[in-house]
Amino acid sequence: MVKIIVKISIIICLIYFANAQQILRSQDVKGQNFLFSFGSCFSERRLTALNRTSIFEKISEQKPDVFAWLGDFGYPKLFEDFIPAFEFTKNEKGYKMLQSNNITQIIGVWDDHDYGRNDGDKNYKHKHETRQIYLDYIGEPKNSIRRTQPGGIYTSYYLGSTKKVKLVLLDVRFSRDSFWFEHSDILGPDQWKWLENEFNDPHSHTIILASGCQILPDDRVIPEKWYPDSRNRLFNLIQKHKDHQRVILISGDIHLAEILVEPNSVNKFGYNIIEITSSGLTHHIMDYKFPQFIVDGFLPNTFNDRQHRLMDFNYALVDIKIDPENKENTQLEISIKDQNNATRLQVKIEPWKQEQKQLNLTNSKYTRDDHRYKRWIIWMFKNYFIEYRKAGIALTSIAFVILILAYFICKILYDCYQNKIKNQQKQKTN
Ligand SMILES: [Fe+2]
Repeated sequence: MVKIIVKISIIICLIYFANAQQILRSQDVKGQNFLFSFGSCFSERRLTALNRTSIFEKISEQKPDVFAWLGDFGYPKLFEDFIPAFEFTKNEKGYKMLQSNNITQIIGVWDDHDYGRNDGDKNYKHKHETRQIYLDYIGEPKNSIRRTQPGGIYTSYYLGSTKKVKLVLLDVRFSRDSFWFEHSDILGPDQWKWLENEFNDPHSHTIILASGCQILPDDRVIPEKWYPDSRNRLFNLIQKHKDHQRVILISGDIHLAEILVEPNSVNKFGYNIIEITSSGLTHHIMDYKFPQFIVDGFLPNTFNDRQHRLMDFNYALVDIKIDPENKENTQLEISIKDQNNATRLQVKIEPWKQEQKQLNLTNSKYTRDDHRYKRWIIWMFKNYFIEYRKAGIALTSIAFVILILAYFICKILYDCYQNKIKNQQKQKTN
């Protein structure tokens, strides 16, 4: 009986602690300077069709200590396409440079396309097979607990030997509920339990929390976002641990880059809750040839405004400076770089700095406390009738003309139908 209890305890410890303690080496001997890079969305089709080389060449030139995939390693349409799509990414010229520069360690977590299904959730039937394939292609050891642990491929790493800054990679696919239920969850019970333990870590004081899809925005017309209950649960966790863990959010998925901030977060959490999104290693939102005013219409300005977004190829570079003696001196400078390695967006984060002022990246007066539909409708009105007035008036006029035409066509058809019935009745009476 005692043996069984010991065995069960060891298994539980392995599940909840063993995979959280990997240290990623840095080029700095003391481990106090760490260069961390991340990005997402690599499409073979886009790269081949447009005869491009991926931005990985530029990432490799930076020689980061680590590159983390935040999803979409490839875009296989069917399960049978999985290995060919991943082989293409693995052998792409730029990515090969990054893999062979003898400095950069490559890690990652999946999002929907490299999980196996667009907007996929826990019901995807091939998830156990794709889990092994995905982990093979990002170089996860065969004996890694990520291959078998319950709830998904979530994991965490210390960035450098000081163990003060930790990268937590969340799996937002494997246990994700379907989106149409009212209280849908995104992480599942096993991952939540594990995440709570990550926050209880006595070594780290700063957590970079990574999710394939965006965490903060709740008012955009896309299904791919954190469900309200899960976001609230995460916010409660962040708030509970605010005195010993400070959190910076990072994400991918949306084919643009941006810096966002939670309004009033200094009041609620004691510091600014910032999210940095980088998506678009081979393609970006403007490749779809939508007019700018249509794209902007889908992106309300609750968390940032247009100048804090980049609709171009991009990756993120995080220059981390850790003072192990004084956490207030820990700094993260996060840059969004383009295909020329030019810095297009930047934010400096000092998570432990005392007397934080609320960072404001928008002139919107609305916050999460205002209903998201209200925010979206106000934004649509402002976007179409103030920011892009000519386009808005033109669109409204076209819609008005279409409605009037539709009305007259329906009226004519209805009149024809009525006449036909009247004629039939006349014929019957005659
Ligand atoms: Fe993507």
